[in-house]
Amino acid sequence: MPEAGEEPDAEDGGELLPVVECGEAVLRRPAAPVDPSAITTPELQRLIARMRATMRGAPGVGLAAPQIGESIQLAVLEDDAERLRQLDPAQLASRERTPLPFTVLVNPKLVPVEGEWASFYEGCLSVPGLTGLVTRHRTVRVEALDEHGEPVIYQFVGWPGRIVQHEVDHLGGVLYLDRAEPRSLATTTTYAARWAGRPPEEPAAELGFPLGALR
Ligand code: NI
Repeated sequence: MPEAGEEPDAEDGGELLPVVECGEAVLRRPAAPVDPSAITTPELQRLIARMRATMRGAPGVGLAAPQIGESIQLAVLEDDAERLRQLDPAQLASRERTPLPFTVLVNPKLVPVEGEWASFYEGCLSVPGLTGLVTRHRTVRVEALDEHGEPVIYQFVGWPGRIVQHEVDHLGGVLYLDRAEPRSLATTTTYAARWAGRPPEEPAAELGFPLGALR
């Protein structure tokens, strides 16, 4: 997922990788599980560092390995607290957007906590220039291996939960476009001019789509 309207991070060590855009088959294939014994190898550690640099450089709040052309079950996430301090507090609150420390998910299994849903616009580094409204679970649990190959269990609520659902979708060959209300789709330019900062009920009414119909 991208972070709109911010300047790329120049210094982060790793070399930035080109991001694969929709239309490439690698984004539509289920990614292969990672051999847990390979996680601590220099090769995979280097890949994780490069994905972190690419995510930060985009800038984005999540990146899945298929997006850099590697069809393996690996994703990185981060919603930096320092950046959030520069954004509108009211919008952060409405989205339940709280800081998400840098997190590596290998072979994640996602279990939704049923019952509560949230509808917000989101975008994708692999779908440049577009944004669309997606209804997702408010809360999810994730079981995965971390960058040390250790098992981890997380529960994510609100915007961090949305980021995780978006990135784990990538590992299954699913793009947010598959889950977005088709009539909500907007260019990022139009979104910024018309809908940014407005509750999703407003574009739903004016563009003619039901909220939550595709969940
Ligand atoms: Ni994406």
